[in-house]
Amino acid sequence: MTKSDLIQIIINRLNLQPSKAEQIVNIVFDQMVDALNKGERIEIRGFGVFEVRSYKGYQGRNPRTGESTDVAPKRLPFFKVGKELRERVAEGPKEKVDSNVFDPSNAEKLYSPERREAIPEALIKEMIDPNPGIILADVGTGTGYFLWPLLEAVEGQGTFYAVDTSEEMLEKLKAISEHRAWGEKIEYVKSQPDHIPLPEGSLDVILLGSVYHELQNRIEFLRVLKRLLRPDGRVVIVDWKPMLDGGDDTVGPKAEERLSRDVAHREMIQAGFEIRTPSIFQKLWTLVGIMPEV
Ligand SMILES: C[S@@+](CC[C@H](N)C(=O)[O-])C[C@H]1O[C@@H](n2cnc3c(N)ncnc32)[C@H](O)[C@@H]1O
Repeated sequence: MTKSDLIQIIINRLNLQPSKAEQIVNIVFDQMVDALNKGERIEIRGFGVFEVRSYKGYQGRNPRTGESTDVAPKRLPFFKVGKELRERVAEGPKEKVDSNVFDPSNAEKLYSPERREAIPEALIKEMIDPNPGIILADVGTGTGYFLWPLLEAVEGQGTFYAVDTSEEMLEKLKAISEHRAWGEKIEYVKSQPDHIPLPEGSLDVILLGSVYHELQNRIEFLRVLKRLLRPDGRVVIVDWKPMLDGGDDTVGPKAEERLSRDVAHREMIQAGFEIRTPSIFQKLWTLVGIMPEV
């Protein structure tokens, strides 16, 4: 981990401006250096102790020439590992690294009444406004919540890819599709976190509904999506507002997992999109990325 990794984590977790996050990291390290300079101990319970050890000057010998020399007194910083840190490192990493990824055993929550109220089908139709013949990929489709109103809007006329990294979610969607109108129109695509097996330049719309906060390498992933789009295509990202932006966690992901629209906005620009920012849902933000004009 580098200092910039740390800054990026703070930006993501706290939805801060990069300059603020950098300031926070700098303040912490500067204060630690100041304290050590003054000879103070820094005690972080469970983590360890930083302290300065003083060594008296002494008469030494130059190893090359054998001549005796004065070795000056010195002060050196030391780190003593705390018990808890030692134990945690000995245990190794916790098994579930990608802990933000949706747990398929909670699949029924995706159709809860509270969620249906927060993400009304009519607004999904309005947001995408699909034409018959549309070629759309619902990435992170889960059990297809966002697909049904769109299939209905064009009476199944179009190509609808249901893309997910989870085989289990795709299987659940297959089961649901057997008794829903236009279910037979869905094409299932099992993807990887960094690869979606669809032809480049082929899609009119890529939709990410409540998925963005689960992605591991978001900017890289956006670049993957961009390659799949037609020149006049668009990526539509919808995700839950953090508490500070007027969200609440009675429905949707946990507060600490949420990302702000500002963070996603910056990342989409970094990935090379032009951005539109429509306001559609009350509890979720929306961002639309289009291809820049060449
Ligand atoms: C919270 S669920 C949302 C499902 C659906 N879009 C909805 O709103 O009801 C997130 C889904 O995204 C999938 N997912 C997470 N990371 C992904 C990735 N990198 N590529 C594709 N799917 C991903 C998860 O497996 C899960 O099915």
